[in-house]
Amino acid sequence: MSQLLARGGRRLEGEVAVQGAKNSVLPILAATLLTGDQVELRGCPRLRDVDASIRILETLGCTARWEGTSLVVDTAGLKGWVISDVLMREMRSSAIFLGAILARCGRAEISYPGGCELGPRPIDLHLSGLRTLGTEIQESGGVLRCEAPRLSGECVVLSLPSVGATENLMLAACGAEGTTTIVGAALEPEILDLQNFLNACGAKVSGAGTSTVSIEGKRPLHGCSYEIMPDRVAAATYLCALAAAGGDIYLRRAREEHFAAVTAALREAGCEIEDDGQGIRCACNRRLQRVRPVRTAPYPGFPTDAQAVLMAALLRSQGATVFEETIFENRYRHVDELIRMGADIRTAGRVAVVAGVDRLHGAPVRCTDLRGGAALCVAALAAEGETAVGEISHIDRGYEDIARDLQALGADISRLDQ
Ligand code: UD1
Repeated sequence: MSQLLARGGRRLEGEVAVQGAKNSVLPILAATLLTGDQVELRGCPRLRDVDASIRILETLGCTARWEGTSLVVDTAGLKGWVISDVLMREMRSSAIFLGAILARCGRAEISYPGGCELGPRPIDLHLSGLRTLGTEIQESGGVLRCEAPRLSGECVVLSLPSVGATENLMLAACGAEGTTTIVGAALEPEILDLQNFLNACGAKVSGAGTSTVSIEGKRPLHGCSYEIMPDRVAAATYLCALAAAGGDIYLRRAREEHFAAVTAALREAGCEIEDDGQGIRCACNRRLQRVRPVRTAPYPGFPTDAQAVLMAALLRSQGATVFEETIFENRYRHVDELIRMGADIRTAGRVAVVAGVDRLHGAPVRCTDLRGGAALCVAALAAEGETAVGEISHIDRGYEDIARDLQALGADISRLDQ
């Protein structure tokens, strides 16, 4: 079993380039199906979830190969429309392949993306939107058989701004006759990245980044070479590591506008942060202060994906900070592990109160989920002694090599593969 071994107490100093965004590359990999052509994705992060997407593409008859840091995908050979239950369960965002397969094949068969990491993650909005575009969906035994011989552009209203549903519908709409309008769309920067990718392939999508996205369907799409946007959650993780350990670092490619709610909280806590257009410099040379209540919310609110790492950064702050998780029901699973390291955290339902302590100590801890695992690494850099972080396959889903990046920033952390 692989683990990460970290010793806290070192100030961070150094520079790292932020990897390509997981939440951007996954829908873009599904979107490559629409082109029936060769696509080069530059700065594609090597992640377990990317590997899972590649396996889905391969079972559908497509090919993918790495060329350095680029992934070259060829979807000309697409011949299947079924994603097996095993592949669907590997990764939650596999559901986004549904819209793309329907657009290209007129039918698809998938099962519900499995597991319960953060609480229930329904896909009802994806399915009702696809029905509005003309898909017939029959469900039995957890398998969804979808038929859409003729998708047609319609107005789809989302009752909440689901990132995945917005992306799924954008992809299906590319294969629909006429124009689709998604009202109540999610505003996340990754939606804009998907729009930019689709337009680079010849699509006509507009409005991403606002709550109304329009897609003109049935345009002939072609391959392209596209650079994936930087990962704002990885950037937030490294800024929180700096806040926890102190020091002065530079994150190349990071863009503050992508996660301004996180940088605002870190500034309030006492960090100095500056975006020079090429990256972000962050310095922190004193004990952090508590911050005003952190309430997770859809973009541009505080991202749920950065809740755990900010919590880890504030464990040794002065005063108490209240967190309220409004997106997922079960997103405090890392708390018990942080408590093993000496943290003072109380949770009640969706609220957690972090009271700053003077010292944290190293301990054997286990990742409970992707961002909770990253939070354990952040806390370990502020703890005295050694922390052994186990079950790091969760972290591998979303970070290319967290130990390599934190080492480059001066941290004492290494990966032990056994
Ligand atoms: C995406 C991100 C994930 C992030 C989340 C919220 C990817 C690959 N993942 O996940 O990292 O934590 O956004 O920012 O981009 N919901 C429904 N019905 C649906 C769909 C969603 O009720 O059909 C609910 C969910 O249960 C959740 C909320 O809507 O409470 C937001 O979910 P959504 O925006 O869809 O998240 P994901 O796309 O799964």
